[in-house]
Amino acid sequence: MSINLQQIKYPLGKPYFETEDCLLYAGDCLDLIKNIKEPIIDLTITSPPYNIGKEYEKPLPLEDYLEWCKSWIKEIHRITKPQGAFWLNIGYLEIQGKAKAVPIPYLLWDKTPFFLIQEVVWNYGAGVASKYFFSPRNEKLLWYVKDRENYIFNLDDVRDKNVKYPNQKKNGILKCNPLGKNPSDVWQIPKVTSGKNRSSKERTSHPAQFPIALIDRIVKVGSNEGDIVMDPFFGSGTSAIVAIANKRKFIGFEIEPKYCDIAVQRIKRYMNYPQTMSLFDFAAIGQLTSNSQLDY
Ligand SMILES: C[S@@+](CC[C@H](N)C(=O)[O-])C[C@H]1O[C@@H](n2cnc3c(N)ncnc32)[C@H](O)[C@@H]1O
Repeated sequence: MSINLQQIKYPLGKPYFETEDCLLYAGDCLDLIKNIKEPIIDLTITSPPYNIGKEYEKPLPLEDYLEWCKSWIKEIHRITKPQGAFWLNIGYLEIQGKAKAVPIPYLLWDKTPFFLIQEVVWNYGAGVASKYFFSPRNEKLLWYVKDRENYIFNLDDVRDKNVKYPNQKKNGILKCNPLGKNPSDVWQIPKVTSGKNRSSKERTSHPAQFPIALIDRIVKVGSNEGDIVMDPFFGSGTSAIVAIANKRKFIGFEIEPKYCDIAVQRIKRYMNYPQTMSLFDFAAIGQLTSNSQLDY
């Protein structure tokens, strides 16, 4: 059954921004999610603070950070539909005196009632250069589902068209799927970079923005048209734009009003583009050259 977003809007208070298929709320996701009483979310995609001192977080003692993560993951599980999924993007953190870069999945993967299907490695080319250890070039995506026997996996919608021998046959039958190959559990997708002459076209002034291509693959593989996608830490609103572009509904939370403003401007700009323009054209046009009033 398709859920009308208006049905869940009121218990959450006044949205910061809304369209018929998109609700953005400014505030603490944990406080706000508690107001959603029923399991109505098909797919959650998010990247929380990593507890590494970025401008949008106050680092906590490790145990407190993990407890905090457990509390909002539990809420996500509670409001996820029986066939729903949760994709968690996380990186690395330092543990003083013990480790320089612990993969956060090692600490968090089983602290949830979800069932873990697999870890996907997101590999990218650009990043900080290191002299005394290998330059970090990956983050992880933990793919969880509520029911291991019954979940959405639209593989044909995300097949990799880059097949080496597409016409190779065995006994007259094509060996490869004509739609392309399974994209595997290592995804090479450029990171959103910043800096003079190296800034990604899609970059806003948010310091930890998802690439549109990364979220597009997850939305396509893990949900269907009309489904509700949620991001409890939406930042610059990447997941909202990708959901809208793929004809999904979106609900999201972000504690910092300045990031909410970035997301609202991006969504409005996307919605003003001609329908014929693809999401990737939108990303390629660039945020930095926009005539928005915001300081992108
Ligand atoms: C890693 S960033 C997410 C960036 C986002 N994926 C994007 O594409 O721009 C994490 C975000 O979580 C927000 N945040 C931190 N604590 C929060 C909370 N308790 N509730 C909601 N948002 C929070 C931060 O302000 C930050 O924008």
